[in-house]
Amino acid sequence: MYQVRKVMTLDEFTIQELRNFPQATGELSGLLRSIGLACKRINAEVNRAGLVDILGALGTENVQGEEVQKLDDFANKTLIDLLNHSIYCAGVGSEENDDIVVFDDELSNNSKYVLLMDPLDGSGNIDVNVSIGTIFSIFKRISPMGQPVTMEDFLQPGNRMVAAGYVIYGSSTMLVYATRRGVNGFTLDPSVGEFCLSHPNMQCPPHGRFYSANYGNFGKYSPGVQNYLKRCETKSAENGGPYTERYIGSMVADIHRNLIKGGIFMYPGTTDRPNGKLRLLYECNPLAFIVQLAGGMATNGVQPILDIQPSSLHQRMPLFIGSRDMMEELAECLQEHG
Ligand code: AHG
Repeated sequence: MYQVRKVMTLDEFTIQELRNFPQATGELSGLLRSIGLACKRINAEVNRAGLVDILGALGTENVQGEEVQKLDDFANKTLIDLLNHSIYCAGVGSEENDDIVVFDDELSNNSKYVLLMDPLDGSGNIDVNVSIGTIFSIFKRISPMGQPVTMEDFLQPGNRMVAAGYVIYGSSTMLVYATRRGVNGFTLDPSVGEFCLSHPNMQCPPHGRFYSANYGNFGKYSPGVQNYLKRCETKSAENGGPYTERYIGSMVADIHRNLIKGGIFMYPGTTDRPNGKLRLLYECNPLAFIVQLAGGMATNGVQPILDIQPSSLHQRMPLFIGSRDMMEELAECLQEHG
């Protein structure tokens, strides 16, 4: 007899979670629903990106004479619009906006959450059909309710984060979402337009085999980082070892692979950019929160990412993140070389 396998949708999952917290107001679930909807819209546009040659180049006009938006702009506006019209978010900090976006209306001023996001990470990869992602983190505001949120609501250390997630637009589209109760992955079923629970209780394997770094920068890394990479090389497949090097240039994709299969991703500081490239608030922090909750680790080479007190919205930070054993060996190398 034909049996339909029961799949749990993202909505069903969050409702079930709510039942465990009778005091919960449902605001966080509402916020997640808005993010999920925005990301489905972004996904539809990302899937059409290959057609721009036919329909018109990004930033120009398409054949109907309509302006074709750049995808990162589109992602940013879609998320901000949906969050603004939901009643669960008081403001947004985005890679695409110099300043915070404050939703200054009565409902929003009485919302307790703020959101930080990179609407489309790895956007340099759009033209070449490589996976890209949306990254977000959610904090409870610290300014008084009833008033517009302020910068201090966004400049909180990662260890105060309530939830974080990313959506990867890849061979399938997946939303990975973490709260202190754990990390769960939902794959978008395009036939019904629903994110369905596909990776419950994700755990980062403690022993990894993938190492991901931009080797083009090798000469500009510190001796500790160079030494760690040399150790990885000696353990690489070429030398009969288990390790293998993988770097896509879309950190959501690199970290997603390492989270599932075990590995380490790094974007260290370089001699010309001592703080590296990645942004603390909406790139390093959410991914650190997710990987740490899955049993991995994330540091800037000196201290845990989540312990860092941010000083500005677009601050950059070196990032080392991944499987526990690899992170511990890295820490040894960094210490040995000062
Ligand atoms: P962008 O969104 O500007 O394309 O940046 C992507 C980020 C991150 O996702 C990736 O791992 C890293 O930058 C790649 O940078 P390099 O090309 O310098 O290695």
